[in-house]
Amino acid sequence: MSRLRWTSRTIFLFAAIGSAVGLGNVWRFPYLAHKYGGGAFLIPYLSALFILGIPLLILEFAIGQKLQKGAIDAFRTVNHRLRGIGFGAVFSGFVVVVYYAVVMAWCLHYFVNSFQADLPWAGDAKGYFFNSVLQITDNIGTIGGINWPIFSALFVIWAIIYFSVWGGVKSVGKVVSITMPLPIILLIILFIRGITLDGSFSGIYYYINPDFKALYDPEIWLAAASQIFFTLSLGFGIMVAYASYNKETQDVAADAYTTAITNSAISLFAGFVVFAVLGYMAASTGVNVEEVVASGPGLAFVVFPEALSLMPWAPFFSAIFFLTLLLLGIDSAFSLVEAVNTVIVDRMGHVPVKRVAFYVCTLAFLMGSIFTTGAGLYFLDIVDHFVTNFGLVLVGIFECIAVGWIYKADKLRAYINKVSWRNTGRWWNVTIKFIIPPILILLVIIQFFKEIKTNYEGYPDWAIAIGWGVVVVPLLIAVILAIISKIEEKAVE
Ligand code: PHE
Repeated sequence: MSRLRWTSRTIFLFAAIGSAVGLGNVWRFPYLAHKYGGGAFLIPYLSALFILGIPLLILEFAIGQKLQKGAIDAFRTVNHRLRGIGFGAVFSGFVVVVYYAVVMAWCLHYFVNSFQADLPWAGDAKGYFFNSVLQITDNIGTIGGINWPIFSALFVIWAIIYFSVWGGVKSVGKVVSITMPLPIILLIILFIRGITLDGSFSGIYYYINPDFKALYDPEIWLAAASQIFFTLSLGFGIMVAYASYNKETQDVAADAYTTAITNSAISLFAGFVVFAVLGYMAASTGVNVEEVVASGPGLAFVVFPEALSLMPWAPFFSAIFFLTLLLLGIDSAFSLVEAVNTVIVDRMGHVPVKRVAFYVCTLAFLMGSIFTTGAGLYFLDIVDHFVTNFGLVLVGIFECIAVGWIYKADKLRAYINKVSWRNTGRWWNVTIKFIIPPILILLVIIQFFKEIKTNYEGYPDWAIAIGWGVVVVPLLIAVILAIISKIEEKAVE
């Protein structure tokens, strides 16, 4: 059977950019930039983009497109014992989408609740988010009940994801032709709204004012490296799966540059939107911008809603904001599901995509219900912390070793140059073999020592153990897969 194909190269690029551009661009990048030296953060960020991000993206695109397989089978082709790398990637991806969809469900909840003259969170956005929306318990040990409104929203999100991926890349292609460009247009609307508010420029000043002394702090370089990793959706098997539906002759290098540069441009732009609004909020409540900055859920579901509620036309702009988040996030979410579906369909060619998609979505939805309990946010925080700090980075290290040393970087580069208009020089081999692995290993080691020094966020040991489980289980399985194939080979001999 011939492999499904994207309807066009543009649609593939929309899908890849759609996966890369997600909540991280809005709620993580601007905050990091502000925290780590403002405009000066661009130096480590762009260095990480060119040293780590683009070479790895070229690698993931090239391996998927050349071998025409999703992550597990692609690495199996490189070497039978390496299929665990692909497994680790899609395992991490599956874990991420389980909670990412829950965040989408919160966005949906806020979006629906924007359609009232008086926004329900006006005056107490914090209380609204933690008590009304999350119904959060006092600590992670108290699970509380399932929060049904969020559970229902989660169901809707999974229905949307299911109908996006049920036809494989054919249906994904149709959906991304809306979910990639539309949120960018909405961001532009929010930008115009933002900069026409009083105080917006002082907010933007906080975002870009460079502090070059910050560059002496090693932490800023690590932050830049892990942001690049996450924002380009590397280490999940997504880019491998997506590229596997391209024609073998597509220009891999150009696709990687286009995806990576567009994604970073959108991050930068989103920072202007976020800080314009924060500046307005600081000015209208008479505090310093420093006191209102936040990242992650705190930014999207507390600070921003508060700021939106202060604006003229509050319901309208809040609907636009949450719709933007939904559209930004949904194509990242289903890219993860598509990576999982791809490896399953590759393995069991006779099973229809629709059925695979249905089982994967149902399982992920059911597992996601844990994050809709009163302790959901705590679990989400832990799982997110461990997968993004360890899972992905480990996959990245193994990818580089597998391709650089076992498959041979030069062999893949010869393919890349055969199909690409612009030549990728020897620097790529050097980067994949000698530069990225030590950087990522260093990242893991530093993070590991931080982890064992104190429990992340002071969570109890059993909860931290769940976090480690998410990292260690796929690692163990990968090792077992490597050993089993040794035994299989022996048996053949
Ligand atoms: N790239 C996404 C972002 O920046 C994160 C993500 C990665 C989401 C992989 C889903 C899958 O938000």
